[in-house]
Amino acid sequence: MDSIKDIVRTYSLKDISIATLASHSALQILRGARDEGLRTVLIVEKRRLELYDEFRNLIDKYIIVENFSETLDVAQELLRENAIFVPHGSAVEYVGPERFRSLPVPMFGNRDLMIWEGDQKLKMRLLKDSGIPVPREYSLEEEIDRPVIVKLPGAKGGRFFFLATSREEVLKRLDEYVRNGVLRSREDALVQEYVIGVPMYFHYFYSPIFRRVEILGIDIRYETNIDGLRRAPPQIASMFEPSFVVVGNIPVVIREKMLQTVLDYGKKFVRKSIELLPPGAIGPFCLESIVKDDLSIIVFEFSGRIVAGTNIYVGSGSPYSWLYWNEPMYMGRRIAREIRIAAEMGVSCLELILT
Ligand SMILES: Nc1ncnc2c1ncn2[C@@H]1O[C@H](COP(=O)(O)OP(=O)(O)O)[C@@H](O)[C@H]1O
Ligand SMILES: [Mg+2]
Repeated sequence: MDSIKDIVRTYSLKDISIATLASHSALQILRGARDEGLRTVLIVEKRRLELYDEFRNLIDKYIIVENFSETLDVAQELLRENAIFVPHGSAVEYVGPERFRSLPVPMFGNRDLMIWEGDQKLKMRLLKDSGIPVPREYSLEEEIDRPVIVKLPGAKGGRFFFLATSREEVLKRLDEYVRNGVLRSREDALVQEYVIGVPMYFHYFYSPIFRRVEILGIDIRYETNIDGLRRAPPQIASMFEPSFVVVGNIPVVIREKMLQTVLDYGKKFVRKSIELLPPGAIGPFCLESIVKDDLSIIVFEFSGRIVAGTNIYVGSGSPYSWLYWNEPMYMGRRIAREIRIAAEMGVSCLELILT
């Protein structure tokens, strides 16, 4: 395979397109490309075509597949379109980590960071090494002295996560999961302090072109059943175990005096990612946090690409993005802006934002 740099050098920089998979935040990515005057290519599964075709005004070209796992097979077609692939939260999962890593198409962002994101333990290591406060982590040998949340690998959306208050309870539940085949080995689970506070998800954009970290927005995940149980009277709520399946997102702003900490975390994350996973974070990332009543912010995971919570601000921009840009800037558009400016500056700039 030619290196990504060699491929970009064959591109006609006046005619690049943005390609993405029809899922997650694709509509926002397409709309952002449109707002920046770039062509768009949508890789879409047949069964999703009806929905996306409603928005055909955003799409210059469809590449129709039975399954997203065929994305590797359509790489040549993407290259003919001078395409830059913009990955989102479903991309690694749907394409498959190995195929994703080897996809011979220039990608916006750092693909290694997106692969790390899939490993709970590596993920927490990057945060910890960045100097960002994270929840306490317990080994299975340790006594547990406070409520914990136990996370099973690959349990997307929090299915098979559970809360516990003792080591015995944790081991008993994990052994059940191993017996049912849900979990390979109990050591694969992550046992993390359950932090009490309110969740906030900070959306950042790191621009290698402007060399700055921007705070582009904040959201709250709307999760079932943990959010639904709040509405139920206590005697009913106590009959159910909470689950954390994300079904939507809600906008939020943070007290202004806390913004310094938010910015500081973003910078720390970028700095450490450059060191551990060069070229480091590029473009969108998210720090998923709990804000405690002493106003400290604890980060329990990150996403190394666009998060679906940014969909809230499509078209309008967020209260923060307005401050940086004084125009309706939302994540999909911010991505396209970075690509457009880099392409205008020339191939050596474009290389800074692609892997
Ligand atoms: N340490 C924690 N303390 C409190 N709540 C947590 C903690 N970790 C996760 N959660 C809750 O569980 C949800 C899912 O956890 P997360 O680690 O983001 O897994 P995933 O995104 O893979 O589903 C979070 O959105 C949050 O509501
Ligand atoms: Mg999460």
